[in-house]
Formats: sequence, structure tokens, C-alpha cells
Amino acid sequence: MSDVEYDRLFKELQELELKYPEFKSPDSPTNKVGGAAEKKFSQHKHKERLYSLDNTYSYYDLEQWYDRLQKNYALTKPPELVCELKIDGLAISLNYENSNFVLGATRGDGVVGENITNNLKTIKAIPHKIPAEIMSLEVRGEVFMPVDVFEQLNESQKVNNAKVFANPRNAAAGSLRQLDSEITRERKLSMFAYYGRIDSNELDIKSHFEMLEFLKTQGFNVNPHFKVCKNVDEAIKYCKIWDNKRKTLNYATDGVVIKVNSFDLQKEMGFTARAPRWATAYKFPPEEVSTIVEDIEVNVGRTGAVTPVAVLQPVSVSGSTVQRATLHNFDEIKRLKINIGDRVLIKKAAEIIPKVICVTEHANEVAIPYSPPEFCPSCGAKLIPVEGEVNLYCPNKYSCPEQLKAKIEYWTSKDCMDIDGLGGNIVSQLVDSGLVNTVADLYKLTVDDLKKLNLVAEKSSQNLFGSIQASKNPTLSRFINALGIKHVGKEMSEALANKFLTLDSLKQADLEDLVDIDGCGEKIALSILDFFSDSYNNDILNDLKSHGVIPQTVENNKVSQLLDGMTFVITGTLSDTRDKFSAIIKANGGKTSSAVSKNTSYVLAGENPGSKYDKAQALGVKIISENDFRQMIGS
Ligand code: IVH
Repeated sequence: MSDVEYDRLFKELQELELKYPEFKSPDSPTNKVGGAAEKKFSQHKHKERLYSLDNTYSYYDLEQWYDRLQKNYALTKPPELVCELKIDGLAISLNYENSNFVLGATRGDGVVGENITNNLKTIKAIPHKIPAEIMSLEVRGEVFMPVDVFEQLNESQKVNNAKVFANPRNAAAGSLRQLDSEITRERKLSMFAYYGRIDSNELDIKSHFEMLEFLKTQGFNVNPHFKVCKNVDEAIKYCKIWDNKRKTLNYATDGVVIKVNSFDLQKEMGFTARAPRWATAYKFPPEEVSTIVEDIEVNVGRTGAVTPVAVLQPVSVSGSTVQRATLHNFDEIKRLKINIGDRVLIKKAAEIIPKVICVTEHANEVAIPYSPPEFCPSCGAKLIPVEGEVNLYCPNKYSCPEQLKAKIEYWTSKDCMDIDGLGGNIVSQLVDSGLVNTVADLYKLTVDDLKKLNLVAEKSSQNLFGSIQASKNPTLSRFINALGIKHVGKEMSEALANKFLTLDSLKQADLEDLVDIDGCGEKIALSILDFFSDSYNNDILNDLKSHGVIPQTVENNKVSQLLDGMTFVITGTLSDTRDKFSAIIKANGGKTSSAVSKNTSYVLAGENPGSKYDKAQALGVKIISENDFRQMIGS
């Protein structure tokens, strides 16, 4: 069950219990805080109960919560709030006596948890001793697995044929409950502290903000993004910013926790049966929701790869309605044991096509078992497997309509020939009407041909004709990319253009010339050779040439090798365009990339940098200014 569904049912139960208290069961989940403690660790009764939080899903709910505070407690001025990220991990309680860490436990059911002291001691973010001389201190926080650690762990689990974790939270939970602490240590967990309680009045801490600052001085890892907000409007602003920005973080967050800052006011408000009245959690719109698989269709891609797609009962995810989700390949359907009719969990990460994560409920008796197709749904050719690959392929690369449409759509896309206004709908009409049978046919089209189409938006046939004609002299790298050679993407196309400078010399390259290029292995090289030795491809290349489609020749403008082997990501406003800086980087032997990763050497940041800056910080990638960059290249 997804979190959202759970919360919805939970809320319904709360409302029913309020309406019909006589039916409320003594073991109702509304009285409980979390799962019960497991048996293998000794049990620990918390000194003070670990409460849960009430959730809100809209800014309206948040405003209501704040209004209630003001009314119920007859406050003369709007109470100050502290907003923090809600970390998606596991709640723990750490107990310090006479400044030493003596016991750490999971939340359990909020009253009794598991004593996992030895495992917690392996986590670097948890101090064993604190500088302040305090008799008794309890710190609470969230243990989590950083996203990069999670990805590495799953990679090695796969290699070792061990269990792959569904998300960082599950991985953290599994790692924390190890009977062997050494395994916990290897899993590189971390922790953010978000609560401190001192029994006596040893220190004069009056607010949550002061407590977080104090915890920092004691060596605890406090999430750096907390913010004091004057009122609920500022809190909502914080939620909006982080709903977007959280994707750049190296840990999972599922919302914002909003807490009343003043301890006096917190005390006055107290707790309900399960949660404090002085805090609430705003949950970000879900990125994972469940829905029913109504059908499984197959897509034919530009390389002929046939991939299954789940047709879903429409559902709203991350603010948009989703009706289709990729299933990657037929092995994935087997692995996930998906049948038509099953309820599945789908996920939509930013800018990525939604994908099916797992089955949450099998339709059992009504399920229709799925078997992969034998024939191409577009042209009817018998599908073939390719050795070493999981996909099935349609072998009909010359006249399969779906393959052709996908090839042409790719040809027209931004990083290829960049033909403005020639989208999927128009491409479909051009192929179906028989006007276009290869990419070269696009350049034969007349304004009259285009007039016969059902043109979308305000695109006139004259404009479309103009766009096609204007695309005739692309850079060599974009032209190579547009050819859609298997295994050759944007970066490799650039490398090929820079090495061979003209299309003719690329066509004459042999295996040795090709594998000489950084990143070009034998598989890629063979695919390039294969492409240029195919007579059908050569006919198209000749056709293109005869229609005046001629890529530009690359000027050999390398000025130095100062940046050899370095990859740059550019963000923010610099003194000239990004393309200009990109050209300078390349002329000095470097490469540019659009996304920050561990392989990025430098992020070149101008004014008002975007999320790439935050991601670089999170990954520990060096960030340099335009001045630093100028010094690097001695300009
Ligand atoms: S405060 C009495 N702050 O969310 C205050 N909780 O759904 C209780 N959580 O059990 C918690 N980040 O495990 C608080 N910055 C944060 C948090 C946070 C994550 C978790 C915590 C709690 C759960 C409630």
C-alpha cells in the first residue's frame, strides 16, 4: 500500500472513531505510533514516549492548523515556527548520561523500542561523547542511507545475487537491524538530529531553534536547511521551495516538519494520543501511487527494440495524470510477476517517464497472464531476440511504420536536426500517408504536400517548410547523433565529430581509428562500422546530400590541452553565453555535461546558479567561479 493510501485510510478511521467511539478497538492503529519491537534485540522502554506526527497534504490544511493554534491558545501574535525537512528514514532515540552515549533504540511502538546501541555506535554521525557536561540528554533523529550509498549497495547486492532494496528507507531499516554490527558499519548510514530533551534545567534552552543550535555544538549532525519562519505564509514558501529543491539532495525527504518554536508554547499545547499538537508534517505530493494495469501494449523504438508499456487506470502523480508507464523489457514483467488486472505501484521521478515499481495486489482469479508477442504489432514481422540483450527486435528496419516514425521523430529532435514544429502527430501523418519513407524524404516535401496535412497549433505549412529547409546544415556532431547509430549518443557523436572533422573521413574510419577515441569500445566501434557498410544507410546518406543536407565541417580549433580529461557543468549567468564557455572548455581539451554527477570535475557557477549548484554541494563536487575558470586556462 502506498503511503498516501495508508494515510487516507488512517484519516478515515480517525474520523469514524470520533463519530462512533463505541466501536473504537483498544488496539486501534490510531493509538499506536509505529510497528511493534522485533524480538531479536532486547527491548527498551523509552523514558518519554516517541510520538508520531499528524500529516497535512495541502497548504490549506496547513493554514487551518496554524489558525487553530492561534485561536485555541488565545495568542496575541502569530507564533514563530521552525520548518525542517522531513527525512524519510527511521526514528531513533539516543540517550546520553554524564556526557556519554549509553543507549540507543528504535522507535518501536513509541513506548517500547529495540535496543540497537551497538549498531548505532557504528554510525559516524552519532557522537559517543559530547563536550557539554550534562547528566542526562536524549536526542532523537532520523537514521537514513544517503542515495549514492543506496545505489552502490544495490549494485553490489545485484552482483552477489542478494536482495535488492526497493528504496533507501528499506535499505536503512535492513541495515540497522543487523545482528552483526559490522554489517551496519559497512552500510554507511547517517543521521540527522531533530529533537533534544534535557531532564533537568541544566541549560537555559528556550526554543526549538536554540536546541538545534545546541545540538550542533555537541557534534550532532543537524540538517542545515532548517529555517525559522515568522508565520504560516513563510512556512508555505519554505514547503514550495523544497518540494522542488529536494530532488537535488543526497537523501530522501517526504515532506516538511513544521514546529512551534517556543518551548513554553509547546508545553502548553501538549500532545494528542499519538502526536504533538505543536507540530505537523506537510507531505510533498506523492511521487509513488498505486493503480491498476488495464493492458500491456508494446512500443517499437527507432532501433527496432520492442518494449512493453503498461496501460494504466489514469492516476495523478506529481501533479500530472499518468496513463502509461514503461515496463522496460519482457524479463522485467516476469521479474515483477505482473499480470493484466494487477494493482501496481508506479513512480514518476522528475522528467523521467513513469515506471512500474512493483505489484501491490495480484488480481488472482481475474488476472490474464501476459506472454510477449511473437510478431511486431506495427508491421507483423517475426520478432527476434539479440544475443546478450533482453529486448526483442523487429528486424524490418526498412519499412516498419512505427520504427520509421520513431526514427524520424528522433531525427527532428533538439539534439539532432532540431526541426521546430515537426512533432509526433505530424510525423505520424507523413508516414501513414506514404509521403515520407526515409528521413531524406523530409527534404522532398513541398509546401503543397504539407498543406494536405492536418497541422496542429498555429504551425502553417509555410512555417514547417521553412523549419525543414533551415535544418539542412547542422553541426557534424548533431548530424551524427541524428543518424541514430546504435550505442552512439550525443557525447559520442561529439567525440566522433571532433576526431574525424568531416563525415567522409568518419565513413572511412576503421576499427583501430575508432577504438582510439576515449569511451569508444569495440561494441560501439563495430556498430559504427556496421552502420556505414549498410547499403540502405548509404543510399539515405546520398539522398540527403543530393537534397543539400550537408553537415558543417569541424574547424580544428583546439588551443590547449589544459582541461584534458575534465568534465564541466555550467550553471547560472556568466559574462557570456553558456555555448561560448562550452566552446572554450572544448577548445582546451575538456568536456561539458548537462548533469552534475560524481564524475563531474568542476561546476562552473555564475550568478543565480540553479539546482546544479546544490547537487554539486551535496556530492562534494568542486564549484568554481568564472574568475577561477579564467585562471585555470590562463586567460
Ligand atoms: S519531529 C514529537 N522532525 O517523521 C516530534 N520528525 O511521521 C516528532 N521525521 O517519527 C518528530 N524528519 O521519524 C521530526 N525533522 C523531523 C523529522 C521527523 C523525519 C520522522 C520521525 C517521526 C516521523 C513522523
